[in-house]
Amino acid sequence: MHLNESPFEPSKLVSTYVSKYVSALNLYHVDELEREFLKKLSNYVKLPEEYVGVFPSSSEALTSIIRLCKSRGLRLSSVWPSFHGFIEFAQMEGTSVDLINLIPEFFELDLAKIAREGSSSKALYLSNPNNPTSNMLFQDLETLEFLINRFGLVIVDEAYFEFSRFTVADKVKNYDNLIVVRTFSKAFSLAGARVGYAVANPELLEELKRCTALFSTSITSLAAALGALEDLKYMEEVVSKTIELREELRKSLEEIGLSTLDSRTNFLFIKLPTSGRSVAKYLAERGIKVRSYEDEIIRNYIRVSISSRENNLSFLRALHEYLKR
Ligand SMILES: Cc1ncc(COP(=O)(O)O)c(C=O)c1O
Repeated sequence: MHLNESPFEPSKLVSTYVSKYVSALNLYHVDELEREFLKKLSNYVKLPEEYVGVFPSSSEALTSIIRLCKSRGLRLSSVWPSFHGFIEFAQMEGTSVDLINLIPEFFELDLAKIAREGSSSKALYLSNPNNPTSNMLFQDLETLEFLINRFGLVIVDEAYFEFSRFTVADKVKNYDNLIVVRTFSKAFSLAGARVGYAVANPELLEELKRCTALFSTSITSLAAALGALEDLKYMEEVVSKTIELREELRKSLEEIGLSTLDSRTNFLFIKLPTSGRSVAKYLAERGIKVRSYEDEIIRNYIRVSISSRENNLSFLRALHEYLKR
């Protein structure tokens, strides 16, 4: 329960489509598959095809964005706590990220601080909803505009869009310095297929595509993602079941006196009366993995992905046992 994967298997159509394209694996790419996928994806995103670029995972899309920022001479900034992957990808590309702390307790954007840090020579990365805190960092277009006007580039990571239902993807039509990143790893139950996408103004997207290798998303991964897109009803079921399980777990945690942030994702960010590291260690010894943090601001928190009802209950029981000791 530490990687925010979906507890549900992919749609049955995923194996149908993967089987259909396995025999084409001798090739680098299949035109017909790429065209069909892009058409379906652009329908899903509700933007023309030239606004949507496919990447082998949203992690790879973010890495390509970091390369683009480097080539444009843009310094990277983000908030903290936020998706640690972004900082790691930056380090792998030989650069670093300036961090602006969120306002503690509710983990909200500190717009005054952000405004002071803003510059046309900087790129700002936000995960919205935010990982690990699970809440929305903003839900209004005024905040987006505020950020867009203060930074050279704004990157909004909507990995959990299907759970939050809030998006700024359509705004790429109005702004040429906005990139939205999404993934098939969460609501579409396809973490192992490694498919993500970026949405941006066509010129910016072309520049971004040049920052990644050709044919890097495998034929079978594209086929898997196409199968998942063909079965949106299944994805909606996965999302609503996950939310139901999340709310069940949240209520049970409240009953044992623990609070969580208002989650708009497939995980909970739980506040503890003790260090998250010691709880995570106790749980790991019982075969349950959760995320805990060294960092002072979040040392008394754990992040727990929603799993099956059975796993959620095992987690709850073990956590309660620890707290009663
Ligand atoms: C905010 C955020 N962005 C990106 C990712 C990475 O997703 P992918 O599997 O597409 O690389 C994650 C995964 O947990 C995430 O939480």
